[in-house]
Formats: sequence, C-alpha cells, structure tokens
Amino acid sequence: MHTVNANGAAIPALGFGTFELRDADAYRMVRSALDIGYRHIDTAQLYRNEQAVGRAIADSGIARGEIFLTTKIWVDRFAAGELQKSVSESLQRLNMDYVDLLLLHWPSRSIALAETIPALNAVCRQGATRHIGISNFTTALIDQAADLSDLPLATNQVEYHPLLNQDKVLAGARTHGMSVTAYSPLAQGEVFADSTLQQIAVVHAKNPGQVALRWLIQQDSVTAIPRTRNEAHAQANFDIFDFQLSADEVETINRLTLQNRRTIDPASVAPDWD
Ligand SMILES: NC(=O)c1ccc[n+]([C@@H]2O[C@H](COP(=O)([O-])OP(=O)(O)OC[C@H]3O[C@@H](n4cnc5c(N)ncnc54)[C@H](OP(=O)(O)O)[C@@H]3O)[C@@H](O)[C@H]2O)c1
Repeated sequence: MHTVNANGAAIPALGFGTFELRDADAYRMVRSALDIGYRHIDTAQLYRNEQAVGRAIADSGIARGEIFLTTKIWVDRFAAGELQKSVSESLQRLNMDYVDLLLLHWPSRSIALAETIPALNAVCRQGATRHIGISNFTTALIDQAADLSDLPLATNQVEYHPLLNQDKVLAGARTHGMSVTAYSPLAQGEVFADSTLQQIAVVHAKNPGQVALRWLIQQDSVTAIPRTRNEAHAQANFDIFDFQLSADEVETINRLTLQNRRTIDPASVAPDWD
C-alpha cells in the first residue's frame, strides 16, 4: 500500500473507520483489520470506542510505530485548557502516549478558531500527537485554520466518494500542502447500488465498493477510511491494490460526483458547505 505524504505526515492511503462500532465490535474489527494488513485506524472521542480501539492495537502485537492512529476532539471540548484535558482523557482511554493525528471533528459555531488552533498546536508540541488536522472544514475555514496554525495541518477529513464532488475542498487543501481524508468513502453503502460503478466493477472482477475506494486512492493526496462490521467486507475493501482504473473510467466516475449526494449533514454542526 502506498502512503500519502502531507506536510511531514506519512499516512497509509487506506485506513479503517470505526464510527458506530462499539466495544466488542470495535475490538473485533480493529483486530481483524490489523490482521488483514490495515495500518491506519480512525477513531474519535464521539465514537465512544477509544478504549476498545486502544486494546485491539495493543493486543495485535504490531509495533505501535507501524500503526497510524487518528482520533478527533469533539466540539464541546474546543476551549483553551479544555482541549488539552480532553486529549489527555483520550490518551488515557487509548492507553497510549501519543496518537499520530489529532483532528478538530467539526468547526465550532461558538468557540473561535483563534482560541482552538493554538491549543491544538500546544498538545502537538507537548507530544500528545505527531500531527494535527481538521475535519468538515470548508475552503474558507481551511484558510483560516492554516493561517492561525504555527504547525502545518496534515489533513482535512471530509465526506468524499463517487456520488459527491469535492473539487473545491481538494484544491483548498492542496494549496496548503494538506491531504484530504475521504470519510464515508462508500457513501454509507450507497455506492453498491450505482449502475455505472457496477459496470466498471464487472470489467475488473471487483465490486462497486472496491471501485469507489480505488478511485479515491488513485487521486493525489487522498486517503480513504471505509468502515465495516464484517471481516469479509474488511478484506474486500483492502483488496484494491491489484488493479487500476483507466483515465476514461476515472473521467466517468468524476461525472457521477456531480449529483452531489451528501450523506452526513448534521444540522447542529454542519458548516455552510462550499
Ligand atoms: N469526520 C467525520 O465527521 C466523519 C463522519 C463520518 C464518518 N467518519 C469516518 O469515516 C468512516 C467511514 O464512514 P462511514 O462509516 O460513515 O461509512 P462508509 O465506510 O462509507 O460505509 C459503511 C457502510 O458500508 C457497508 N460496507 C462496507 N464495506 C462493505 C462491503 N465490502 N460490502 C458491502 N457493504 C459494505 C457497511 O456495512 P457492513 O458493516 O455490513 O459491511 C456500512 O453499512 C467512519 O467509520 C469514521 O471513521 C468521519
């Protein structure tokens, strides 16, 4: 598997998402993902599974340095002081000294970035994380965050898949040397029903999900983090490094994005999207 290099971070192109995987499921699936060969795991304070994820990584026997672990700070912990406290609590639950990437989960409507970004820099300087980044930021917010941050931002994690165009966000992130981490890369399962993806999949003897993931990781500075509670699906999602989409197929999938089907848009935190 290749890694994406972004502002000093080397991020495995394919990661394993853990949204909605609680306790036993999170433990079982992170163990399984690591056995399959995944070396990039995505969790968050909001997912309430940091403890199980940390235990699965420890029990895997794989050296900590070989695994790229991301967690995310929830928006109610963005105040200076509170942010640092929440990161200590995350590390305690994970039973780790550091994470590889620490993200602001969504932009906050009540706490200014001018307060939160310095706090995020501080935890990085103290060694709690190797890299910092943002999630669900629009191009205007990416610019603000990058301007306020002394340390470079490694990624903006956003919803991205063949049914949603993210050209503006991709360009905005690349301007600052950042990668884009594609969340809900399978459109929460919707890509499997798309007839165009089904047709391309047949040509390569793959499934539509594998085509979606391949289309993402074939792009410059893009990583993808599919989630599943099924071991066979985790293996299938990993089997995307033995084929390549042609330029014509990529162009066909690019056109699908114009339907702009966004699956995650929570009214309480969603910004005014690009
Ligand atoms: N930063 C954010 O705000 C944010 C928001 C959302 C998600 N995320 C991250 O991104 C990760 C992925 O996004 P997501 O969980 O929303 O959705 P997703 O990965 O796009 O899709 C997950 C769905 O696809 C199904 N699936 C996965 N592999 C499959 C396969 N090979 N065959 C058939 N069905 C398959 C799963 O069902 P089965 O379990 O039955 O396989 C599940 O219903 C999350 O887990 C989380 O880590 C971040």
